[in-house]
Amino acid sequence: MSFVTVTDVWQRYGDRSIIERVNLDVAEGEFVSIVGASGCGKSTFLRLLLADETPSRGEIRIDGGEPAREPGRERGVVFQRYSVFPHMTVRDNIVAAESFPSGLGRFFGARLRAARDRADKTLDRIGLAHVAKNYPATLSGGMQQRLAIGQALTARPRILLLDEPFGALDPGTRIAMHDFLTELRAETRMTVFMVTHDLSEGFKLGDRVLVFDKTRWDPHMPEAFGATVTYDFDARDGGVPFQHILDNYPRLAAH
Ligand SMILES: Nc1ncnc2c1ncn2[C@@H]1O[C@H](COP(=O)(O)OP(=O)(O)O)[C@@H](O)[C@H]1O
Ligand SMILES: [Mg+2]
Repeated sequence: MSFVTVTDVWQRYGDRSIIERVNLDVAEGEFVSIVGASGCGKSTFLRLLLADETPSRGEIRIDGGEPAREPGRERGVVFQRYSVFPHMTVRDNIVAAESFPSGLGRFFGARLRAARDRADKTLDRIGLAHVAKNYPATLSGGMQQRLAIGQALTARPRILLLDEPFGALDPGTRIAMHDFLTELRAETRMTVFMVTHDLSEGFKLGDRVLVFDKTRWDPHMPEAFGATVTYDFDARDGGVPFQHILDNYPRLAAH
């Protein structure tokens, strides 16, 4: 059963083609990693999934519904750059995510206390309860990124979109974040799309690894054609082993 259905999606900006002919069926709960050269349209594709933009052509349906016109609470997003609010405590960052984009304004008195109690439960889950009253600037990069993921999860999205979420972290912290994401996924059955520049990370975390690349190229009009999904690897246990990719697709391994 297809949960996210992408049908013949194209995206153009002016006369530049960024993405073309993308077709995809993703089951609920699947983890889809996306790799591809810098500038090939990976972030653009995530914005289309988020419904932050509408495609020039084609459509994206979630659970058979009508194509969305704007981002909704069923889609959560985490960018590489930490998107936390620096002037709010860690706890209030979670509370604010609950009422985004209106900020804390919606909450006062008993409602604010109840929202802070809910936020504390989330902070427990993401291992930040002990720093609830601190400001984000006092946290390590990995903790700030966990807070950003906690914010994205606060709305209990059915789809989590991650745009190179661990790219700025040191290797040890990145591995801790992999374990954290794997745990969250086991608990929530979320469907995840993660862009990464690290092919091994894509294979480690993903059930599938999509490669975006151009298949058509006009030297006189380098912007005429966009990228599409050129490979769709089965990355689950028993699927295509990562070593096979390294041995057989040197062009991909070089990413
Ligand atoms: N809103 C926009 N308007 C015009 N061009 C854009 C816009 N967003 C992205 N682009 C261009 O689209 C191309 C793909 O960008 P992006 O999706 O960010 O690539 P990636 O994430 O794969 O590095 C880039 O050349 C970028 O400059
Ligand atoms: Mg990008």
